[in-house]
Amino acid sequence: MNTRLACHLAALACVLVTPSLQAANLSIPEAKADEAARSVAAMLVAGRGVVASHQKLINDPDKGDKGFTPDYVAEQMSEAFAKSTGTRPEGITDPDVKAAVMATLDASKKAIANNQSRINQPGKAFKGFIPAVYGRVTGNILKGESGVEIKQTTFEPRNSYNTPDAYELGILKRFAETKPSVGTGEKVGTSYRYLQPIYIQEACLQCHGDPKGEKDIAGKTKEGYKLGDLRGAISVTLPVR
Ligand code: HEC
Repeated sequence: MNTRLACHLAALACVLVTPSLQAANLSIPEAKADEAARSVAAMLVAGRGVVASHQKLINDPDKGDKGFTPDYVAEQMSEAFAKSTGTRPEGITDPDVKAAVMATLDASKKAIANNQSRINQPGKAFKGFIPAVYGRVTGNILKGESGVEIKQTTFEPRNSYNTPDAYELGILKRFAETKPSVGTGEKVGTSYRYLQPIYIQEACLQCHGDPKGEKDIAGKTKEGYKLGDLRGAISVTLPVR
């Protein structure tokens, strides 16, 4: 066999083998689903916070390598997760909850890894690697790798990926009326569905605030939200067994 053909065959073998190397889809016992869903949402909130608090670094045009690596981000996220839940992810005792949280952390690391050239691009200020983008990319990876879904959904999605389904729309409408401070979950069919409200804070106004209709730094149209308005929800869908 010539070398060229051998190379092609080796590459083909890789393509064929890869799916079996992927993590199996998770399925969480019903009794643990609520804790798992809240923990997954807490991990995403931790990641959003880390990306938000490093915007100045990420958008520094004078710096190439930012050191905003998957390992660095994972450590910052684990600390933030510990602050909000009382436990670092590796310290979670329940194996199913831990698996869901670790899958979210792993997907976050991959999202950061996949965006290194964007984050480290020298000579460019605003990179557009904002919390919502981190969350969307992470959710997309997580879905493919574990079957767990995370969406940042809203009535007025800037990105059509975040468009609510019928279930999410119903809960969003309820949230808009009752303005709860915590999330809510229930079993729906073979899934556990959990939504956690997101409200407009000071830091969101530069892009989502007034004047409505004007362009923000990302070149998108400002929605004219006011402080405390419901912006949307983090939606977690877990397969249950
Ligand atoms: C630098 C501008 C900017 C800031 C600041 C910002 N956002 Fe966004 N936001 C965006 C962009 C751009 C998108 C679309 C992202 C995408 O393509 O997925 C978005 C999307 C979202 C989404 C997903 C739903 C959708 O519209 O697609 C939510 C939820 C959200 N933002 C909430 C917030 C909250 C809460 C804050 C403040 C804590 C905030 N954003 C701050 C620019 C911003």
